[in-house]
Amino acid sequence: MSRVAVYGATGFIGTACAHALRHAGHDVVARTARRLWVAPEDLAGSPAAGHRPFLDEVRAELDGVDAVVNAAGLATSAASRTPALVGANAAWPRLLADACERARVPRLVHVSTAAVQGRAPRLDESLDYAPVTPYARAKVLGEQLLRDAAARGTVATTVYRPPSVHGPGRRMTSDFAAFCRRFPLVTCADGSQPVPVALVGNVGAALAEIVTADDAPLVVSHPYEGHTVRTLYETFAPGRPLRCLPAAAVGALLRAAEPTGSWLPPLGALCRRAELMLLGQAQAPGWLAARGFRLPLGQAAWDELATGLRGPVPRPRAARGPCDTRDDTYRSPR
Ligand SMILES: NC(=O)c1ccc[n+]([C@@H]2O[C@H](COP(=O)([O-])OP(=O)(O)OC[C@H]3O[C@@H](n4cnc5c(N)ncnc54)[C@H](OP(=O)(O)O)[C@@H]3O)[C@@H](O)[C@H]2O)c1
Repeated sequence: MSRVAVYGATGFIGTACAHALRHAGHDVVARTARRLWVAPEDLAGSPAAGHRPFLDEVRAELDGVDAVVNAAGLATSAASRTPALVGANAAWPRLLADACERARVPRLVHVSTAAVQGRAPRLDESLDYAPVTPYARAKVLGEQLLRDAAARGTVATTVYRPPSVHGPGRRMTSDFAAFCRRFPLVTCADGSQPVPVALVGNVGAALAEIVTADDAPLVVSHPYEGHTVRTLYETFAPGRPLRCLPAAAVGALLRAAEPTGSWLPPLGALCRRAELMLLGQAQAPGWLAARGFRLPLGQAAWDELATGLRGPVPRPRAARGPCDTRDDTYRSPR
């Protein structure tokens, strides 16, 4: 049994991670992340920018810990590039890496996001980045700061990249379900494009697997859960027709929105989500699959999640698209 400190254990993913770790017999200690405000240009000059006042106190709370999971951060895909966003998603994980080194904690796992590879046609476990939004760019910066800290060779570090994560009580999930019931469902081609999505229980289990492995690499992707655009729509709106749009027209529309989306983060995030459900995104098999890790939850859990959300169709004001960028406003049910 290991003693694992989980930062962000009050959040959506942190709760699932703590649960999976306890289930596997580990001793979990919940820790609170520091709220940092750091300008990106300050971080470029000094990776320790903004965190010096907190380093010693974080180090002190890691005494006797075998591993650390960072599930803390600002999961706001439509956010602007603010010091709070950069502080939470880049400066904070680097602070934690430095504190782990000082406290001689041998293992750190940080929750990053598949969004760091943005529009890449195929997600993989490389350090090739293609972020589309300020949120994704802050997560890239966080990965890069951790990569540099890991190069010192004292803390075995892994950045784990889940795609959009669904689960009970999560706003993005209920909004998506409402959208599926209310609006015409459209996609490109025949809807058989793979779409990267995850169940929060599977994300917790993947994190528990990674943190206790001896040989995890620097980057680990969440395994493909098997959904295509069509199966995801069928899960949340069984029996509803899926209309297929010409890929060329969709591509032209998305390209037209790109310049505005690049300076208007909510539009950029919205277009990215629409793009995922229209075009899909492939994923290379990764380290977890090669290791033989099996996702504990399958289609039955997706069906259960969707069935639990099949209430009356909400009034228009309450319904938002699959492109809703407020997925990150979720607070885990307590
Ligand atoms: N949800 C998704 O679909 C998704 C997908 C891919 C990646 N991620 C990443 O996963 C991580 C967790 O996401 P989540 O959905 O679990 O978010 P969440 O439910 O909002 O939880 C995040 C936790 O982070 C801590 N936190 C809040 N504000 C913070 C700040 N300004 N600085 C540092 N920590 C702060 C809080 O925990 P404490 O108060 O306990 O410190 C909070 O409970 C994020 O880094 C996000 O980028 C999420």
